Amino acid sequence: MRHTIRFHLRAVVPAVFFTLPLLAQLPEGAGRAELEQMCKGCHELARSISLRQDRAGWDKTLTKMSAFGMKATDRDYALVLDYLAKNYPAEELARINVNKAPAIELESGLGLRRSQAAALIAYRTKNGDFKSLDDLKKVPQIDPEKFEAKKDRITFE
Ligand code: HEC
Repeated sequence: MRHTIRFHLRAVVPAVFFTLPLLAQLPEGAGRAELEQMCKGCHELARSISLRQDRAGWDKTLTKMSAFGMKATDRDYALVLDYLAKNYPAEELARINVNKAPAIELESGLGLRRSQAAALIAYRTKNGDFKSLDDLKKVPQIDPEKFEAKKDRITFE
């Protein structure tokens, strides 16, 4: 009997210790709850976030998980893809802080022309910090698609 109890504790305690703190460690944000829901069925959560890759890479991983039998609505799939691409991006990609970045960084990081980087800085100076992608898309002279395409690399600190 004693032996059985000890056996159970040994099996259960580490699982609790290692699972709970991890949940808390995931950065907050849209898609976190859906990720926990979608990714917990077959392996531990740590494995789900064990990769660092760009959006296309995460899309591929999620497609693979779907083939294994992962269930997700289109909405949740998109939310989780956004969440993973934003929080677990390919490591070599530096983030661009659009509220502080100098022109050169805006040009190289976001693929803007010099005049477009200048337009962004003029807008920022006049209107204050950008708070969201939607704010950023209001900058005149720049196709909003440019920001959409780079949204995983943009921060608003
Ligand atoms: C239906 C079961 C299932 C669900 C749900 C699931 N996975 Fe997986 N996952 C697997 C299997 C099976 C493997 C092992 C694949 C292998 O070894 O080739 C795996 C492995 C992985 C790996 C390791 C790298 C790789 O490509 O093999 C990552 C990363 C991963 N899963 C991410 C996720 C994420 C993120 C979610 C939630 C969005 C998720 N998984 C949900 C079945 C699942």
